Amino acid sequence: MKKIIITGGAGFIGSHVVRRFVKTYPEYQIINLDKLTYAGNLMNLKDVEQAANYRFVKGDIVDAAFIDELFATEQPDAVIHLAAESHVDRSISNPTEFVMTNVLGTVNLLNAARKHWADRYDKTRFYHVSTDEVYGALAMGSGMFTEETPYDPHSPYSASKASSDHFVRAYHDTYGIDAVISNCSNNYGSHHFPEKLIPLAIHNIKNNKPIPVYGKGENVRDWLWVEDHARAIDVIFHQAKAGETYNIGGHNEWKNIDLIRLLCQIMDRKLGRAEGESAKLISFVTDRAGHDLRYAIDAAKLKNELGWEPSLQFEEGLEKTVDWYLSNEDWLSEVTSGHYQAYYQEQYAKR
Ligand code: NAD
Ligand code: DAU
Repeated sequence: MKKIIITGGAGFIGSHVVRRFVKTYPEYQIINLDKLTYAGNLMNLKDVEQAANYRFVKGDIVDAAFIDELFATEQPDAVIHLAAESHVDRSISNPTEFVMTNVLGTVNLLNAARKHWADRYDKTRFYHVSTDEVYGALAMGSGMFTEETPYDPHSPYSASKASSDHFVRAYHDTYGIDAVISNCSNNYGSHHFPEKLIPLAIHNIKNNKPIPVYGKGENVRDWLWVEDHARAIDVIFHQAKAGETYNIGGHNEWKNIDLIRLLCQIMDRKLGRAEGESAKLISFVTDRAGHDLRYAIDAAKLKNELGWEPSLQFEEGLEKTVDWYLSNEDWLSEVTSGHYQAYYQEQYAKR
């Protein structure tokens, strides 16, 4: 594999995947294709932007003509597709945008792959990065999602991701595209946009603002260190057979309220506050509509077949995450002020 287009590389997980591939594989050319929506921030890639094997291309996967042209000029050998609208709450207020990017955008990429790779499916690869939310919700304390769990999405976000997964499988089965899919649990770590639970809570605790906990905080998520996800993508990209699906998860289930209490303890210590001070900010608010009760991933297939396991204990990962946010105040203030967006839009408008 020589030239890889990574879509959504300016986002949270995408930037970790780009960084990993640029640094680990100097012999590869990495093209980061990103629209730079509110969630895309090239500050996330400052440490690799000058690398000889890295390039950024600003573009929209919903624009079929642009995607076709990009494949024609670049002739990539692989796509690792992460670009998406990714926030469940936004999907509830604006579902159509999720259909456009997550469904149509994926189909546009598949069409370009079908057209430009038809004579070399055996030498190309389409890697689709998906989510555990396609499987729906589990009851408390019983069962885990396996690769055989039937799809049962509930939110517009998870419905759009499920749809994109179906298209990727259909293009593999119908046209013979070499496609692989992974479905991962909740990620956490550096460069996570502060609309999601963990970075939002860190930001609010630091600024003495209420921490909004939906419902009673009873919902359970399975948290995985983002760099472990990037490593899993690397392993699957290089080793999986065409047509395979792998679940990726942390074996690390937390009720939201327990996670927030742990975060409050860590923040009290790091900020030199009295024990219990930050927890006073916990504020129970109206529940998310259609809120999935519990997610838990069985990642045994990935462990048994490809040898991947999570590397980091959650408490250690959470400490590292808090440290990153506290020592990268410039990143957080750029993001919360929205300044990064105006800056990069202006840079690209000039070209
Ligand atoms: P994110 O929202 O942080 O980043 C998404 C990126 O995609 C941004 O850089 C954005 O600019 C770009 N993008 C959005 N629309 C685009 C378009 N039309 N054309 C080109 N680029 C566009 O998302 P994330 O949390 O890093 O998630 C990345 C992928 O991983 C998504 O596909 C998501 O479904 C999946 N995933 C996320 C998690 C998680 O916990 N965050 C877990 C499992 C799977
Ligand atoms: O499971 C993988 C998914 O994890 C990814 O596919 C999504 O892209 C990613 O956003 C994430 O979805 P969640 O909805 O689980 O993540 P979020 O951080 O939005 O919420 C985590 C839990 O915390 C969830 O139960 C809702 C709750 N929550 C969230 C926010 C933003 C709160 O209680 N308060 C909040 O303010």
